[in-house]
Amino acid sequence: MDITALFQLSYGLYLVTASHEGKENGCIINTACQVTNTPNQVAVTVNKDNLTCQLIEKSGHFAVNVLTEDAHMEFIGRMGFKSGRDIEKFAGMEVTPSLYGDPMLLTSREVSAVLTCKVTGKLDVGTHIIFVGLLTDAVKTGFGTPMTYAYYHAVKKGATPPKASSFQAAPETKSDLPQWRCTVCGHVHTGENPPDECPICHQGKDKFVRV
Ligand SMILES: Cc1cc2nc3c(=O)[nH]c(=O)nc-3n(C[C@H](O)[C@H](O)[C@H](O)COP(=O)(O)O)c2cc1C
Repeated sequence: MDITALFQLSYGLYLVTASHEGKENGCIINTACQVTNTPNQVAVTVNKDNLTCQLIEKSGHFAVNVLTEDAHMEFIGRMGFKSGRDIEKFAGMEVTPSLYGDPMLLTSREVSAVLTCKVTGKLDVGTHIIFVGLLTDAVKTGFGTPMTYAYYHAVKKGATPPKASSFQAAPETKSDLPQWRCTVCGHVHTGENPPDECPICHQGKDKFVRV
């Protein structure tokens, strides 16, 4: 089996958000799609270990913020490589609550549209849960071009963490040199020392940890 055939599947990139009992959170996903139009329903696939998954399960609603090509790697790093258990992801950001209270980034160039959904079904698929949501509101921000997953990899040089549905471990390198992972954007550098600056998100060497 050629597992890289999976890389031929196309996706977009999204920030799925949720809120429950005053806690607002969200995480990056590539697994949002419209599944029916009568009624309009949207599915998202979220890892059970993600705080966002637990908030969607408890609250029964979520919002899908469609990311644009303008989304910064620092933003993706904060939302996709860190957990809301450790940080307040929306601190300092202008957030509009959806009709259920889920964070919407309507004034950010990083988001082109927001879909508000009420959970109508869920499927346990092992490591992840597929939530199906009835579309109860939808808005376009007027900003940007929606980002595809291919653009994220090819142009942004973005990485994918293990909790993503589409994660594939990198093939083992033949190099004896150590590897260093940027804790902000996931970029992996091979070398005796971490680079002075991450070539992807431009953070300093102090943000690198040895893999
Ligand atoms: C490019 C990219 C794609 C991702 N796709 C998914 C996904 O489809 N489903 C998922 O559960 N996590 C996905 N993730 C990982 C989550 O965003 C990540 O585990 C996040 O830190 C969870 O945060 P939370 O604990 O605050 O919910 C993806 C991350 C990136 C950067």
